[in-house]
Amino acid sequence: MPVTYKLAPSILSADFARLGAHVAEVAAQSDLLHVDVMDGHFVPPITIGPVVVKALRKITDLPLECHLMVTDPLGQTDQFAEAGGSSVVMHFEATDDPRGVIKRARELGLGVGIAVNPETPVEEVFPFLDDIDVVNCMTVNPGWAGQAFIPEVLPKIEKARAHIDAGDLDVDISVDGGVNIETGRRCIEAGANVLGAATAIFGQGDPAAAARALRNLFPRS
Ligand code: DX5
Ligand code: ZN
Repeated sequence: MPVTYKLAPSILSADFARLGAHVAEVAAQSDLLHVDVMDGHFVPPITIGPVVVKALRKITDLPLECHLMVTDPLGQTDQFAEAGGSSVVMHFEATDDPRGVIKRARELGLGVGIAVNPETPVEEVFPFLDDIDVVNCMTVNPGWAGQAFIPEVLPKIEKARAHIDAGDLDVDISVDGGVNIETGRRCIEAGANVLGAATAIFGQGDPAAAARALRNLFPRS
């Protein structure tokens, strides 16, 4: 499968008092928006819920990827579909029923992916790759923006890329956490094709320029 590179700004570091304006600044450089949903159980913080997804849906046509850092992804998928989410990314560690989430997401017309924490072997998701759109190799432990990139994840990305290419599978490999120009380059070299970033975009004085700089890492075909 040809690899398509995508930039996924995470709104977690945006200014929520002017979220629409902040999103508009980066829209031209974005392939999707990454929405970090945290429930205070799977991870300590509580962040964004369907109300914000619904508001975003009104102001942008970009796909809204809902990263569900929640203990009950199956129970919450419907809410994000109703709010206008485009896809849900569950955590492998959060559910013993990934196939149930995949099935429900598809019934609702959503894209679906699986995220794996840095400690989780990426091989755990290989049995699901025929049925999902993206595997998110978390490059920090989930819970907060602004953490340091964990380089030990790079070999996992290489393994996922080798497996996906060998099977000619239509699955994206995204990275999420501590991604900046330097670490983003290493992730792309390892085989990632979707860069998620919060601080490196919305934490900068000129988010559009920061997003453009990340896009410049993408190999040109
Ligand atoms: C972390 C979230 C990430 C986070 C990335 O739990 O899943 O999406 O927003 O933030 P940065 O890019 O600042 O590491
Ligand atoms: Zn995320």
